[in-house]
Amino acid sequence: MLEYLYPLRTYLIVAGVEKPNVMTADWVVPLSFNPKLLGVAIGNQRYTKKLIDENKEFVVAVPTIELLKDVWTAGTVSGANKDKSELLSLTFVKSEKVSTPSIKECQANLECRVVDAVQTGDHTFYVGEILHASEGDGFADGKPDIENYRFIMHASFGARFTTTDSKIIKP
Ligand SMILES: Cc1cc2nc3c(=O)[nH]c(=O)nc-3n(C[C@H](O)[C@H](O)[C@H](O)COP(=O)(O)O)c2cc1C
Repeated sequence: MLEYLYPLRTYLIVAGVEKPNVMTADWVVPLSFNPKLLGVAIGNQRYTKKLIDENKEFVVAVPTIELLKDVWTAGTVSGANKDKSELLSLTFVKSEKVSTPSIKECQANLECRVVDAVQTGDHTFYVGEILHASEGDGFADGKPDIENYRFIMHASFGARFTTTDSKIIKP
C-alpha cells in the first residue's frame, strides 16, 4: 500500500568512515526544526544499516537529475557485495561535523548524528540530528533554485523517475 505515497523525492545516504558506502533512499522525512531532526527508514538487510549502527552517523546528500545513473546504481547494488565507489562517478569530500564524508556532486549534504533508532517492521527508522548542512549552487540560503536545478523524484517503485518543475504555483 505504500506505493500510494509516491512520487517521493530521492536522496543518497552516505554511511561508513573507513570505507564509505552510498545507498539510495526515498524514505527520508523532516522531523523537527529545533532541534534540527530528520528521519530515514533503512531496510534491516541493507549494508548501510550495519555501517550506521557501527558509526552512529550518516549524511543525507541531495542529488539532481544528472546523477540519476549513479542514484540507480547506489539503489540496486549492495555495498555488502561490491565496493560501490568503483561503480559510481561520485566524489567523497570531507564533512564538517561528522567523520562520514559528503558527496561533492550533490547540491546539499546534511550531516547527521543518530539520536534514536526505532524498529519499524522490516526497516529501522533512524532519527538524525543535523549537525551541519552544506549547499551547492542548487541552493541559496537553504532555498532550492528550482528554476535552474532539477531534483530527483521516484515516480513509483522500480526504474521510473520524474523530476521537479520550475513552475511556482501559489495557492
Ligand atoms: C530510488 C530508490 C529508492 C530507495 N529507497 C530506499 C529507502 O528509502 N530505504 C531503504 O532501505 N532502501 C531503499 N532503496 C533500496 C536500497 O537503496 C538498495 O537496497 C541498496 O542496494 C542498499 O545498498 P547497501 O546494501 O549498500 O546499503 C531504494 C532504492 C532505489 C532505487
